[in-house]
Amino acid sequence: MSRRKIVAGNWKMNLDLTEAAEWLAEVESRLRNPACDVMLFPSFILLADLMDMYEGDVLLFGAQNCSHLESGALTGEVSAMQLASVGVDSVIIGHSERREYFGETNPIVLQKIQQAIKHELMPVFCCGEPLAVRNEGKQKEFVKLQLEESIFQLPAVALSEIIVAYEPVWAIGTGLNATPEQAQEMHAFIRSLIAAKYSDDAATQLPILYGGSCNPTNAKSLFACPDVDGGLIGGASLKVNDFLSIIDAAR
Ligand code: PGA
Repeated sequence: MSRRKIVAGNWKMNLDLTEAAEWLAEVESRLRNPACDVMLFPSFILLADLMDMYEGDVLLFGAQNCSHLESGALTGEVSAMQLASVGVDSVIIGHSERREYFGETNPIVLQKIQQAIKHELMPVFCCGEPLAVRNEGKQKEFVKLQLEESIFQLPAVALSEIIVAYEPVWAIGTGLNATPEQAQEMHAFIRSLIAAKYSDDAATQLPILYGGSCNPTNAKSLFACPDVDGGLIGGASLKVNDFLSIIDAAR
C-alpha cells in the first residue's frame, strides 16, 4: 500500500492576522490539486478567522497544542473540545518546544492525545531526540521511550487516527536537517516498533512525517525515502513560495 503524503505547515508563534490573511489568499489562489494532503497549524488566535476566510477545499486546519484536560479552571489553556467546536481538524501534540519550554512530559503528552482523539481531532504526535542523545548514539532508545510512554498506551483502534512526526531536536530551526539516510533509519525504526506493538497493518498505514529544517532544496530527497511520508515544516512554511515548492516535492 502506498501512503498518501502529507505536508504540514507549523507557523509556531509567527504572523499577525494581516500577514496570515495575505499568506492564505496567496496559497488559496496558487494551490491546485496537490499530490499530497496539506495541513496548516497557525496560532490559536488566528485559526477561526483563517478557516472562515478560506474558500478552498485543500487545506486542513490544526492547532499547535491543546490542554491535557477537558475543561475548567485552567487560565490561558485551550481545550480539544473548544478546538473541535470551531471546526479544527487536527492538533500538534508533544512538539519539542512544548516539551522543552513548557515542561510537557510523556504522560502529559498522552493525556493530550487522548483528549484530541476523544474530540475527533487528528493528533500529530511529535517525537525526536536532542543533540546530546544523538551524539551518544542513543536516539533509538530515546524515541522508543517517548512512544512507549505515550502512543503505545493507546488501544489499537486509535492508531488509525494519528500522525507521527519524527523531529530530531538538533534539526529544528537550525538549518541542519537530518540526512535522508538518518531520517529513513529512524522512520523505519518507528514503523517497526508500531508493527511489533500493534500489527503490520497499523505500521503500514501510519503516516510518519519528518520535521527539522526541511526546505525546498532538501524536501525531495527526504520525501523520496520509503518510510518518510511528508514533512512538518516550520520556518519554510512562513514563505509561500517555499511552502508551495515543498508541497510540490511530495509527489
Ligand atoms: P523547522 O521547524 O522547519 O523550522 O526546523 C520544524 C518544526 O518544529 O515543526
